[in-house]
Amino acid sequence: MSGLGIFDLSGRAAVVWGGGGAIGSAIAETLGRAGASITLIDQDRDRVEAAAARLRDVSLACLALAGDATDREDCDRLVGQAVDRFGRLDICFNAIGGGAGKVLHPAEDYPIDAWDWILDLNLRSTLYGTQAAVKAMIRCGRGGRVLSMSSVRGQLGINAGYSAYVAAKGAINALTRQWATEWAKYNITANAIAPTFVDTPQVAMLLGDPVFKANLIARVPLGRVGSPDDLAGAVLFFCSDASSFVTGQVLTIDGGLTATQ
Ligand SMILES: NC(=O)c1ccc[n+]([C@@H]2O[C@H](COP(=O)([O-])OP(=O)(O)OC[C@H]3O[C@@H](n4cnc5c(N)ncnc54)[C@H](O)[C@@H]3O)[C@@H](O)[C@H]2O)c1
Repeated sequence: MSGLGIFDLSGRAAVVWGGGGAIGSAIAETLGRAGASITLIDQDRDRVEAAAARLRDVSLACLALAGDATDREDCDRLVGQAVDRFGRLDICFNAIGGGAGKVLHPAEDYPIDAWDWILDLNLRSTLYGTQAAVKAMIRCGRGGRVLSMSSVRGQLGINAGYSAYVAAKGAINALTRQWATEWAKYNITANAIAPTFVDTPQVAMLLGDPVFKANLIARVPLGRVGSPDDLAGAVLFFCSDASSFVTGQVLTIDGGLTATQ
């Protein structure tokens, strides 16, 4: 295959965990426009239905499912429904997570309830969602793509009370390498993308603080924060045949921030 055909996802089926969220819904559209059938999964029924309606408005094939990715049986049920609907599963995009700005505590006193909440939201959801999806990919026997949302915080500390979030995203980076190693025999690749701040409602309050935003942008060589659209190219690469020989990688998408550290 040559040319842009290596990015074509026609005939493939994807599940997007957190598909009602800002990044999940934007990436679902990217995957759909590349030809994939999409199952959006989110615990917020209204958000996931609204995201699905936006995809259908532009004539993309999609299914919206409500469920809790921190519940293992729910994950198996949701993936089962996706496979029943589209007959196969090729792509698992993990976009559940965040919450860091809501629980800022000094590292030496980081409370265990906040720790558990952030680890469940970011890590357990990614683990259970991926396990359910990969079991289905193995059954389908056509290989597959796992792509997870990490963060630059998986590799960089930040002097702002982020202990649980950095632990969760660091674990996602490590798991990505482990999954790549174990699932290569099924021709399933596992990669992650690690942005700095992406302008979404989840970080709107922080980015709404002009001093915080000016300090942040001053450290980013390309001089701005990211947008969900900035992730689209990397997602298409990692979810398509373009990345057939790439696995276990964590790509920072950060305007050069980590290059300066
Ligand atoms: N926004 C940023 O600046 C930024 C930067 C780096 C990484 N990320 C990562 O990108 C991902 C998406 O971020 P976002 O800004 O789109 O967040 P978001 O809050 O808009 O989307 C997350 C979605 O996950 C859903 N969700 C939460 N818990 C769930 C569960 N247990 N089961 C099912 N659905 C659940 C929420 O309802 C929400 O719709 C997160 O992993 C986040 O850590 C975000």
